[in-house]
Amino acid sequence: MFVRVQKTCLPNHSRTLHLRELPVYDFDMSLSLLIKIGGSLRGASELLDEIAAYPGRLVLVHGGGPNIGEWLNRMGFETHFYKGLRVTPPEQMEVVEMVLTTLGKGLAHSLTQRGRPAVALTGRDANLLQANLLEPALGRVGEVSQVNTQVLEQLLNLGLTPLIAPIGLDSQGPLNINADTAAGAVAGAMGLPAVFLTDVVGVLRDPKDPSSRFAELSKGEVHTLIGQGVISGGMIPKVEAALGALDKGAPWAAIARGARGVLEAVLSGETGTRVA
Ligand SMILES: Nc1ncnc2c1ncn2[C@@H]1O[C@H](COP(=O)(O)OP(=O)(O)OP(=O)(O)O)[C@@H](O)[C@H]1O
Ligand SMILES: [Mg+2]
Repeated sequence: MFVRVQKTCLPNHSRTLHLRELPVYDFDMSLSLLIKIGGSLRGASELLDEIAAYPGRLVLVHGGGPNIGEWLNRMGFETHFYKGLRVTPPEQMEVVEMVLTTLGKGLAHSLTQRGRPAVALTGRDANLLQANLLEPALGRVGEVSQVNTQVLEQLLNLGLTPLIAPIGLDSQGPLNINADTAAGAVAGAMGLPAVFLTDVVGVLRDPKDPSSRFAELSKGEVHTLIGQGVISGGMIPKVEAALGALDKGAPWAAIARGARGVLEAVLSGETGTRVA
């Protein structure tokens, strides 16, 4: 399906860095996409319906921040973040991996039940995500060094949807990778457009005001907004992952709220923030 949307309207807020026309994109609902499912969405059923019904091929990466936080808390561990990244002492890594693996299996089952057979993997399966330790001070936190794209292609060719939990592997064992960072690396390696679905409609000038969404941001604007503290917390690794995906070969990247109709709306430019 190939659809052209005609639309010329101005953003309904006046605090964008540069006031400009809302972007309008030609879009194709059979386009292959990388979708990152934010842990903040907790597998909302409308979102799973939306993903299951998408006509094109999908590679999925999921997060699990809130669930990991809950389990660490239940087990008496303290949680610390540094620039949006979860500090992961080695003794917490096992909990992180258990929570992400269980979440992935549940999501894959929910998609399969909706008619989209999905296989939950972590980066440890078939060396899917090889990784490097990021900074020793962060504990077992890594960044992707290599993606085994072949195994993903093979699963896609079998009609299966790969769903990846962001655990990487170095010579010492598993590493916790921010899900956005992992998603950006996979999108870059596969050359797929990356859609980061989260609990906000896009990058906002005022995080409390959904009407202050930036429709498009350049690399320079992203860095300015981080410097100004407008982009903070979990949005930092997300925009950096979007830029990283572009650098490595993704044609475009967008951040949007995971809700009904979101994929069509992101493809047409009606919602979300495109980073280009
Ligand atoms: N300028 C901004 N615009 C929008 N959201 C922002 C901004 N700055 C910070 N944020 C925060 O970023 C959050 C999204 O990142 P977060 O890491 O919490 O979710 P997620 O990535 O979807 O979940 P997970 O990390 O579990 O996969 C928003 O809920 C918001 O609080
Ligand atoms: Mg996050």
